[in-house]
Amino acid sequence: MENIKGMKRTRYCGEFRPEHIGENATVFGWVQRMRNLGGLIFVDLRDRSGVVQCTFDEAINKELFDKAFTVRSEFVLAISGTVRSRGEGAINDKLPTGGVEILADEIRILSKANTTPFEIVEDSDVNDVLRLKYRYLDLRRPDMQRTIALRHRIAKIARDYYDENGFYEIETPILTKSTPEGARDYLVPSRVHPGKFYALPQSPQQYKQLLMLAGFDRYIQITRCFRDEDLRADRQPEFTQIDLEMSFVDVDDVIAVNEGFIARLFRDIHGIELERPFMRMPYAEAMDRFGSDKPDLRFGYELKNISDIVANTEFKVFSGAIEAGGSVRLINVNGGGATFKRKEIDALGEFVKTYRAKGLAWMKFTDGEMTSSFAKFLSDAEIAAIKDRAQAGDNDLILVVADAKDDVVFASLGALRCECAKRMNVIDKNDYKILWVTDFPLFEYDEEEERYVAKHHPFTSPRDEDIDLLDTHPEKVCAKAYDIVINGSEAGGGSIRIHDSALQAKMFKALGFTEEKANEQFGHLIEAFSYGAPPHGGLAFGLDRLVMLISGRESIRDVIAFPKVQNASELMMASPDVVDEKQLKELHIALDLPEKE
Ligand code: AMO
Ligand code: AMP
Repeated sequence: MENIKGMKRTRYCGEFRPEHIGENATVFGWVQRMRNLGGLIFVDLRDRSGVVQCTFDEAINKELFDKAFTVRSEFVLAISGTVRSRGEGAINDKLPTGGVEILADEIRILSKANTTPFEIVEDSDVNDVLRLKYRYLDLRRPDMQRTIALRHRIAKIARDYYDENGFYEIETPILTKSTPEGARDYLVPSRVHPGKFYALPQSPQQYKQLLMLAGFDRYIQITRCFRDEDLRADRQPEFTQIDLEMSFVDVDDVIAVNEGFIARLFRDIHGIELERPFMRMPYAEAMDRFGSDKPDLRFGYELKNISDIVANTEFKVFSGAIEAGGSVRLINVNGGGATFKRKEIDALGEFVKTYRAKGLAWMKFTDGEMTSSFAKFLSDAEIAAIKDRAQAGDNDLILVVADAKDDVVFASLGALRCECAKRMNVIDKNDYKILWVTDFPLFEYDEEEERYVAKHHPFTSPRDEDIDLLDTHPEKVCAKAYDIVINGSEAGGGSIRIHDSALQAKMFKALGFTEEKANEQFGHLIEAFSYGAPPHGGLAFGLDRLVMLISGRESIRDVIAFPKVQNASELMMASPDVVDEKQLKELHIALDLPEKE
């Protein structure tokens, strides 16, 4: 154990228990709290494992007592003494070490501390800017220590699990070339090649496929990925993937291995045996029932399509949307009739506007009475049919969105469903609902570019039965792609890749690539595939999201030691930052900055 100025740590602070009574102990750590009760000083000493009380008795050793008198919060100390029972009445049940204390016979001040900008306590309500500016202090808090330790354990379990299943850990370059994951790249200028740039990897996608062509059969890497995109609670510009790829597999093989990993995590960390196999739900069903490709199955409020009921109604908001090729759908917030007053429903109307919905129609049933924003425009039969479709009873609240675009209806009702569940407080935080979402569309239409683009990436394989549709109905082709969704969050995703040159050529054609353009962007891969490619596929978990979900945190910021904030800056080091003129010159870079507002 560590040896500081002749003192050796015997245990971490949080480890002391009644069975250690009588032991000689030495502990190192930070002062959580110092209390002087006149004749007795209690110093609560904290390290990464927890806190132990150290007692200084003036009657036993006056000199030592006087020294203890000088310590303050966050001083770093070494303390030796004897473990003894805390007397009756002094036992602290809230603390794991609360039955014992160390009666000190030596104290050394290893480092003094200024008053910290905030107190180091669990669940403090210090604002985020201050927390992140002094992240090293924020990280001293017990809850942060536990989360970072948990993150380590999850990464360790991943390495062990995939090793046991025959995966090699192989590193891939960070300075590389643009990858087709679809976000904006972070670029790094080359000094040696003026005017040329490396791109930081959005994922190791192409490298891991090349490793399969190289014959490694099974690859895993816990790796950093970089994407210059708008941040949210579950998105960082640099984040970590548990990334893997397997040869000679189809969808079920990839799913089986990775399901095993998730099951192992929940068993080792929470002691929970997950029911297997996990549920699978085709993309189309997830959208239809939940308005989302990452449905949260911990609560109901499923979407219901009422387009058939209102197709010919007088109410143009509804019939017009259907006529224009869209739909009218609703959710029934069970029990929401009493919870949501007019003002709150209006707020929900504003909420769905952020998802491009033009409005929110509602109908509520309280004490046998119905009130509604749109019932006056509908016939009694139409209202009865809607109520029936929604299976609405007393005290329920029906919320309806109509739009000419199905996408808008799904996005707004999908988000509204989750928002209402939060406000109704119906989500059980200890419940885990895990599923695979499968059969994603292979393409999605890009309105800006006016063409189909790959929903995953251009190497994703179509389903065997859909290959013939590639030329005729690309929008109907489903991919051999799968996402794993935990409590409404996309924890990972992947696909089976195309390994056949003819099929790949067909795919590029459907994407509107000329042969030249395909070669320009992916020539190295196309050539590689011509020398013998095994069928292969894989997946990547978002490690940050997994840790967030398993630790019950609200934001991935809380599970990353040094995260970035909304505008992609890091407050402690203050990055990004300006650099020397000389550095820019070496890189042949001249700045052309926008005018300051
Ligand atoms: P994908 O882009 O779906 O797939 O990423 C895989 C998983 O990584 C996590 N993730 C993120 N986490 C935090 N911040 C971000 N900005 C962020 N972006 C993604 C998500 C996601 O499910 N190469 C493919 C994988 C494959 O096909 O094998 C890929 O990167 O949890
Ligand atoms: P109005 O006739 O504009 O007063 O609308 C009547 C009700 O329909 C109001 O509650 C509106 O919020 C609602 N509404 C308007 N547009 C939509 C829409 N696209 N989808 C659902 N409800 C809507």
